Amino acid sequence: MKKTVEEHAERFSEKAAAYDDSKSEEYHACASLVIDHAAPEVDDVVLDLGAGTGAIALPVAEDAERVLARDISEGMMEEGRRKAEERGHDNVEFAYGEFRDPGLDPDQRVDVVTSNFALHHLADDEKREAIGVMADTGTRRIVLGDVAFFEEPDPEAPFYSPQVDDPATVGTLVEAFTDEGFAVTAVERVHDQVAVIVAERIRELPA
Ligand SMILES: C[S@@+](CC[C@H](N)C(=O)[O-])C[C@H]1O[C@@H](n2cnc3c(N)ncnc32)[C@H](O)[C@@H]1O
Repeated sequence: MKKTVEEHAERFSEKAAAYDDSKSEEYHACASLVIDHAAPEVDDVVLDLGAGTGAIALPVAEDAERVLARDISEGMMEEGRRKAEERGHDNVEFAYGEFRDPGLDPDQRVDVVTSNFALHHLADDEKREAIGVMADTGTRRIVLGDVAFFEEPDPEAPFYSPQVDDPATVGTLVEAFTDEGFAVTAVERVHDQVAVIVAERIRELPA
């Protein structure tokens, strides 16, 4: 991670109020695909990691039983809570949680994990660890939208800030999901530096 968790939290809290109005076409396309692929059932619990102001958590709350939105930035979550209240979503819970420790109750059921434009803040070994934590929730599906490289990124057109972001290749992420007992059932190329990866569990957790 190029910045500490505390530095990322502070950075996002500072821009939380303007965050929703600052996003690119590719970001919106990516978020929309994550929402479509998440496709929760009415009795599903969705865990959204790096939930920010609720770009994924709020739309999926319309179909799911409950959404656990976890983030490290209180400012981003405050925006999310305000929007949830405005939209009448009382089944979304924003609370502090990190990728590598989402702060769930030990017996918390999770059916679908989502994450959009957030995992790239971690280094590759930390991303692998985070994907392990997602798998350990027992979820049947993980939908990850993020900055990730399909090919060598064009240095003239970086889709990320090298000072704070640390994107992986799509291959690294796919390998991490398969290592955790998931089959990657879709890889959507939104941009040569933006991917949506859908992973479905094929190997059961050990009893
Ligand atoms: C670019 S925003 C994306 C927010 C939201 N998912 C979206 O699609 O708009 C990245 C979010 O990841 C959060 N974040 C950064 N590092 C994190 C970590 N280690 N654990 C959990 N969240 C993290 C930030 O606080 C921020 O809200």
